[in-house]
Amino acid sequence: MSDQQEPTRRDVIKTAAVVGAVAAAAAAFEGPRIQTVKAANDQVAFGIIGAGGRGSYLLKHLLNVSNGHCVAVCDIQQDKLDRAADIIGTNPTKYTDYRELLANKQVDAVIIAVPLFAHFPITRDTLQAGKHTFCEKSIVFQPYEIHALRALAAQYPKQVLQVGLQRRYSKFYALAKEMTDKGLLGDVTHIHAQWHRNPGWVMNGFNWRLYNEYSGGLAAELASHQIDVADWIFGSGPEYVIGVGGLDTWKDGRDVYDNIQLIYKYPKNQKLVYSSITTNSHLPYLGGTRPEFGECIMGTGAALEITVGDGQSTMPTGLWYKEPHHVETKPAAGKEGAAAAGASYALTAGSKALPLLLDSDQLGPDDSFLTREMKFARRWLYSKGIMTSDEDVNPVETELTSFFNDSKTGGHPKADVEVGLRDSTAVILSNICMQQERRVYFKEIETMGTDEKPEAYAADFSKRDSSYRQSLTAKHKVNV
Ligand SMILES: NC(=O)c1ccc[n+]([C@@H]2O[C@H](COP(=O)([O-])OP(=O)(O)OC[C@H]3O[C@@H](n4cnc5c(N)ncnc54)[C@H](O)[C@@H]3O)[C@@H](O)[C@H]2O)c1
Repeated sequence: MSDQQEPTRRDVIKTAAVVGAVAAAAAAFEGPRIQTVKAANDQVAFGIIGAGGRGSYLLKHLLNVSNGHCVAVCDIQQDKLDRAADIIGTNPTKYTDYRELLANKQVDAVIIAVPLFAHFPITRDTLQAGKHTFCEKSIVFQPYEIHALRALAAQYPKQVLQVGLQRRYSKFYALAKEMTDKGLLGDVTHIHAQWHRNPGWVMNGFNWRLYNEYSGGLAAELASHQIDVADWIFGSGPEYVIGVGGLDTWKDGRDVYDNIQLIYKYPKNQKLVYSSITTNSHLPYLGGTRPEFGECIMGTGAALEITVGDGQSTMPTGLWYKEPHHVETKPAAGKEGAAAAGASYALTAGSKALPLLLDSDQLGPDDSFLTREMKFARRWLYSKGIMTSDEDVNPVETELTSFFNDSKTGGHPKADVEVGLRDSTAVILSNICMQQERRVYFKEIETMGTDEKPEAYAADFSKRDSSYRQSLTAKHKVNV
């Protein structure tokens, strides 16, 4: 194979240099100290509101996070509350009303993992109670909340406000961003992203995410992560979105789409092409070794395939493919009828995949003989496609460690309020574009929801909240 297809030794060295820079930048990420930690042992005392699927997942990972200490848990469902306290094992105070948790002076920081429709009111109250705040993605649900949260965040600049977009805390995604910014992919013009499932979101009891009343559907639950990756790589939010959504397979009482196809056009003519379906889970990246979700970042010089993994049995990983320099095409015969036989074809094969290497794979001056041998063996396995390099720490644990660290030091989160609001704007407008079957411009958000009165908003929220609470027990609403 020619060196046009094979990544050269120079390419590898260039990647390694970028990786070194990322690691150094991460180590230097420390802001001025402006708040005092109240918990013992330099740990941040935190409470968690919402201990369902995500909340309990976070608590399991919080067991591996040493700079936070759980002192309080809250859930409106007693079984979830008890399970949460058992998972974390710190004998936290249990609450069923989150306002009581917020009144607990011992709590310095709060993690919010409630359904989407309740994110804003609880985030607002948490900030107003003086706590550092981590809220799961997508940070807000409605246009009114975009404007209200931006204004509120400006009022509390000394409190951390972080959104749960964990790809921002992945070493592989940081490396992809560095490689893009340093031109290693040439001009990045397109990103393809998918989150495919099979079966997807099967109804099994009441599930708030299947109803537009409480949820932003696939756009909020899945696409939000990957739109954020595109925003990050492209360096801005999109200019407009077009798309088609359908509720075509899962006719079980839900009203959110079960498949969405979206195209986002960015200001420099870059595009994100997005797909989420619930009838097939194949992922055509990373040699077909991972299912469901991932992104392919395409530039004139190379392509990168990345995924974050499921965070349990699979971790973030990535492959890059150097672009073959000369792709010649044979012109079609020029006559109709000859097209099938004379279709144009590429004369060169695609390039071999090169695994992205993190610092754990780089050779160090202090490595023992055995460590060096192991690193060489691992790299050889990577080069043969037998193994790919994985991230060593789950980005969920990195984002939570970073949240507590920022709470202590006054540092600024990577997934900050503007990142979160840009992402929520994309989710809201994606749904509008599919529902109204029109191209939606992102500048439209500037006037959406601005005339809503806080009292009307509060009344609307309280209606949603009480119907959600009734539905939690009223199984008849659901066709299983
Ligand atoms: N970052 C990620 O990768 C990721 C993954 C999954 C879910 N999430 C997000 O996490 C959030 C929660 O999702 P989930 O799957 O855990 O939902 P869930 O329904 O499993 O859990 C929500 C919990 O919140 C509780 N709750 C609801 N209202 C409450 C209130 N007012 N006070 C206290 N508790 C309340 C419910 O009783 C329930 O236990 C969603 O916004 C979702 O998008 C993020």
